[in-house]
Amino acid sequence: MPRKIILDCDPGHDDAIALLLAHGNPEVDLLAVTTVFGNQTVDKVTRNALAVARVAGITGVPFARGMHRPLVRPIRTAPGIHGESGLDGPVLPEPAITPDPRHAVDLIIDTVLAHAPGTVTLVPTGPLTNIALAARKEPRIVPRVREVVLMGGGYHTGNWSAVAEFNVVADPEAAHIVVHEDWPVVMVGLDLTHQALATPEVRARIAEVGTGPARFVGGLLDFFGTAYLAAQGFPHPPVHDPCAVAYVIDPDVMTTRRVPLTVELTGTHTLGMTVADFRAEPPPECHTRVAVDLDHGRFWALVADALARIG
Ligand code: BDR
Ligand code: CA
Repeated sequence: MPRKIILDCDPGHDDAIALLLAHGNPEVDLLAVTTVFGNQTVDKVTRNALAVARVAGITGVPFARGMHRPLVRPIRTAPGIHGESGLDGPVLPEPAITPDPRHAVDLIIDTVLAHAPGTVTLVPTGPLTNIALAARKEPRIVPRVREVVLMGGGYHTGNWSAVAEFNVVADPEAAHIVVHEDWPVVMVGLDLTHQALATPEVRARIAEVGTGPARFVGGLLDFFGTAYLAAQGFPHPPVHDPCAVAYVIDPDVMTTRRVPLTVELTGTHTLGMTVADFRAEPPPECHTRVAVDLDHGRFWALVADALARIG
């Protein structure tokens, strides 16, 4: 049975690749796509999501616009990595579909409640505001969700500060809610995604696919690679968000470790840090895991295969 997922995203170059992977892999049943402010404003990332849907030929999947700002703190976006549009680089087509009239939070709730308990996985690849609000607005979704596989955080490193990752620090209170709700959480953080480098070999493999969506991904990686080199000194860009989708498709694409997790909300220098306590055997109630090691070849094979299937 394909895994039913809701992709909650802020496209975003790597979010766009996550969407293409989810659409192109037969093990994924993409129930809904929801958007959240993050890499750019929610208006921009929603438009980007709809444009990527056109590139991928996605029809019949509801897309809904979500939160425009964090729960508590002022909004910040990431134009230094994703450009002013949130998806600078390739020319974006005009969207062919219009957004669902529901708010993303309501679409998430409706979708989880409409499916059998334990069958829907949430895959957030942006700030966690929509997911936190959905859990607070309709607590009945929490025990029904199969798991939350999120791209965000990092137990060893940060990218927005020395210790905080963008998706978590963009709305740390929301991340705190999501990590502490009593549902299984897999944190696919920077420790893992910094291994998902788009090397020249990876780029060549994607180019070989030779289709429109593959060329689109090539254009995304051109911009993303240049931005990552300039902003963070990476010779090859780490392509974060599809790692969370890849875990849902094939959990063996990475190793994970069960460990208690929390989010720092008060630190002067550590706001938004995801703190994993590796000191002892986790207690029985521990429902959080962190991703550790990536099988780089297997991961990029999934992405190339999805692009080839989209055609
Ligand atoms: C995360 O932040 C965003 O810029 C990316 O899309 C990814 O979700 C990486 O820190
Ligand atoms: Ca993202």
